[in-house]
Formats: sequence, C-alpha cells, structure tokens
Amino acid sequence: MKPLKRIFVVGGELTTFIGKGHPDFVWKKHPDFGKRENPTLEQYLTQAINGALEKTGVDAEAIDRGFVGNFAGELFNSQGHLGAMAVRANEKLVGKPFTRLEGACASGGLAILSAMDALHAGSDVVMAVGAEVQTTVSAREGAGYLARASHWEEERSIDEFTFPAMFARRAKHYKEAFGVTDEDIAHVTVKAYENANKNPKAHMCKVSWDLESASKPGDRNPAFLGNEDLKPHLKVSDCSQVSDGGAAVILATEEGLKKLGKKPEDCIEVLAYSQATSPLGQVKDYTVLDNTKMAADQVYADAGITPEQVQVAEVHDCFAVTELLMYEALGFAEKGRGAELARAGETSLTGKIPVNTGGGLLAFGHPVGATGVKQLLEIYRQMKGQCGDYQLAERPEIGLTANMGGDDRTTVCIALKDV
Ligand code: ACO
Repeated sequence: MKPLKRIFVVGGELTTFIGKGHPDFVWKKHPDFGKRENPTLEQYLTQAINGALEKTGVDAEAIDRGFVGNFAGELFNSQGHLGAMAVRANEKLVGKPFTRLEGACASGGLAILSAMDALHAGSDVVMAVGAEVQTTVSAREGAGYLARASHWEEERSIDEFTFPAMFARRAKHYKEAFGVTDEDIAHVTVKAYENANKNPKAHMCKVSWDLESASKPGDRNPAFLGNEDLKPHLKVSDCSQVSDGGAAVILATEEGLKKLGKKPEDCIEVLAYSQATSPLGQVKDYTVLDNTKMAADQVYADAGITPEQVQVAEVHDCFAVTELLMYEALGFAEKGRGAELARAGETSLTGKIPVNTGGGLLAFGHPVGATGVKQLLEIYRQMKGQCGDYQLAERPEIGLTANMGGDDRTTVCIALKDV
C-alpha cells in the first residue's frame, strides 16, 4: 500500500551476524572455548533495541509500540513470548505494547509492516526488531526446525535438509528450462562473499569463494543433500548461513519526527509496502517466484516507480539461485535472463543495480527473524553513506527490499527513497 501518511525510517542498529564461519564465533577449536559464550537470543534483542535507541538518539519513552520478528525461538532457544522478552531490554519500554510476528524467513519484514500499520492506526514512533539464534543445534537438526516453514506433512520428507532441497529443485528446473549453468549461479556466490569481505558485520567477512570452487562440488564444497535427484543441484557454497544476530529500526510519522526533534532529511521515506501470501506446498512453477512477483508488482504500482528506477536492492538470496529468480520477479531482468545480469556484474557494487551490497543472506548471514529488518536498515545505511568499505560510489536515492518466507509463500516488499 501507499502510506496514508508519510512514514520515515529514523535509523537503527545491526549486531554483527555470527556463526561457524565468523572469527568471533566460539566453537570447539576457538581459543575462547570454555571461557566465553556466544550471545543469546535475549542479548541480540537487547543489543539491537538499545543500539537503535542510542544510534538514533531516541529516548525509549518515545516508542509507542514495538514489533518483534522471530521464526523459531521455541525450537532453537526454548523461548517464546518474545514481545515480553524484548521489553526487558530497557526499563522505559516496560508496559509498552510489544508483539511478536512470525512468517518464517519473512518474520522481520512482517514486524516492519505491522509497525507501519501501527503508524496508520495512530502511533507516532514505533520500533521493529528482529532476532534469531540458530547455532544452538547442528545444521542438520536446525534444518528440521527450519522445515516448519514448509508444509510439514507434505514437504518435510523431500530431504533432511528440507529447504536446501526445495531450492535445489528450483535450481534444477531453472537450469533445465533456460540453459543456466552452475557457473552462472556461482557468480551470485562470488559477489556475495566479495561484498561481505568489505563488511565487518558479516558472518562470512573472512571467508571467500572464487568462481571455479563455487561452481563445482569438492572437499570444501560438498553436495550434501541425501535426495539423489536433487543432490547435483546444490552445494554448500549455494546456501545462506545458519547465523545468529539481531537488527532494529525506528519508524515515525511527521508528527513523530517533531516529537523526536528530527527533520525528514535525517531519515529515508517509505514510498510503499506490500505483502503477498500463497498457500503452503502449492508452487506452480519452480522457475518463477510468483508470490514475490505479486508483492513486487503491487509495491511498484503503489510507489509509482518502475524497476529501472531502483538504484539499490536488498533481496532474499536464501540460496544463490534464489537471487537470480529475485532479479526476474523484481523486474531487473526478463524471465530466464537473471543469470546474464549476474555474469555481467550488473548487480555488483559498481553495476547498474547493486544487489545485497553487504553480502546478502549468503554471506552477510541469515539470522532468520532479523533478515527483513536488516534489509531495510541496509537501504537506509546506503542512502545515508554509512556502509564503510561497501558504500556505493553514488548514494542511491531509490531502493527496494524483498524479504521472503518459505518457498516463496510469504513476501514483504518495501520501496524507499532518500529524503
Ligand atoms: N563430504 C560430504 N558431505 C559433507 C561434507 C563432506 N566433506 N562436509 C559436510 N557434509 C555434509 C554432511 O552431511 C553434514 O551433515 P552432518 O555433519 O550432520 O552429517 C552436512 O553436509 C552439513 O555439514 P556441516 O559441516 O554441518 O555444514 P555447516 O554447519 O557449515 O552448514 C549448510 C552448511 C548445511 C549449508 C548450512 O549452512 C545450511 O543449512 N544453510 C541453509 C540454511 C537455511 O536453509 N536457511 C533457511 C533458508 S529458506 C528461506 O530463507 C526462505
């Protein structure tokens, strides 16, 4: 929808995203093992919430409502009721309405949408926060938890790694339909890691992939699926990360900005936002992200912009092939031609439409509930020149986010402009 009143992103905070590949992640061979623990879900919520307040100079007292995006706290952390957990972060938040939203990997996007709906309903200053901690279990066990975002009865059995297998199926169909190669798909991985290597907050800030190693299976890059039909179509380098992390943003109306003593030009503005939801287990064509396309078409229409006008995008690259499908669903490339964009470097930091400038889900990381919130904040940071070594040479004026849950079953798109 097009906002009925002007909505501004005031700013926010991102924690470092960590997991097995990050030097700060404490695992068995880490020098701090036994002396130091990885942060908990509560600590990520607290860091993100208080960091956002501090970075924006907003007093917690001014927050009217809060929305928390998290997918599977009950499974990974034995913790639900995260609205009430979030307000533990700051005593000035006690008593304020904080609510948790769940829509699989789009939980963060839904928290932002609900925050904007709250602005329409009369609030002036709201917070959206997202967090997830997934490293409490092995990747295999975690894959079973993440599989709750599929139709469990009908789809879980595709593979123990249900989501990697579902997107391997998309890769298989996409390659067969359009003659796309594993090397084409690997361009997405290489770009993601190059960007993440410039981003100290990225899970994979110290890990890199070259085109040759990311294009084929090997000792470092196993094709790990058990499903023999799908196994050739997915390797470790094609997958987003099992990450921990948090992100929070503060949004306000014009009235809210006045209360905060801020000007619109300190902020970026929401041009439009959309959500589309499709039935679980009923993908009609594995070569298209239909649901994302519905959300994108709506957001472009409501924002009054075209894909050609977008100067920076944060898209849901849960797997490398997904980013190519996103280019097509968002109108950056014609159907079947997303790979050409990646091969030509057009989505790199110096290309005509830079995508996932901080490394995306593949390499910045994917703490599920935090991802949608991080995407919005990344657009804000690019527009305000805060991205350090991965800052675009020319600050973008129009940006887009696409946060997707499950196998393209829930998508949130937000169109933004600098003020
Ligand atoms: N040879 C053969 N198989 C191997 C090898 C090897 N050299 N190394 C690993 N494997 C296999 C094993 O089966 C292993 O599982 P096991 O140890 O339980 O037997 C499996 O690969 C995973 O290996 P790990 O070392 O545990 O890998 P890691 O922890 O680095 O995880 C992985 C890599 C599996 C790709 C993980 O990052 C992942 O699951 N990513 C996807 C996360 C995801 O699905 N998120 C949701 C996205 S959906 C959405 O956003 C809409």
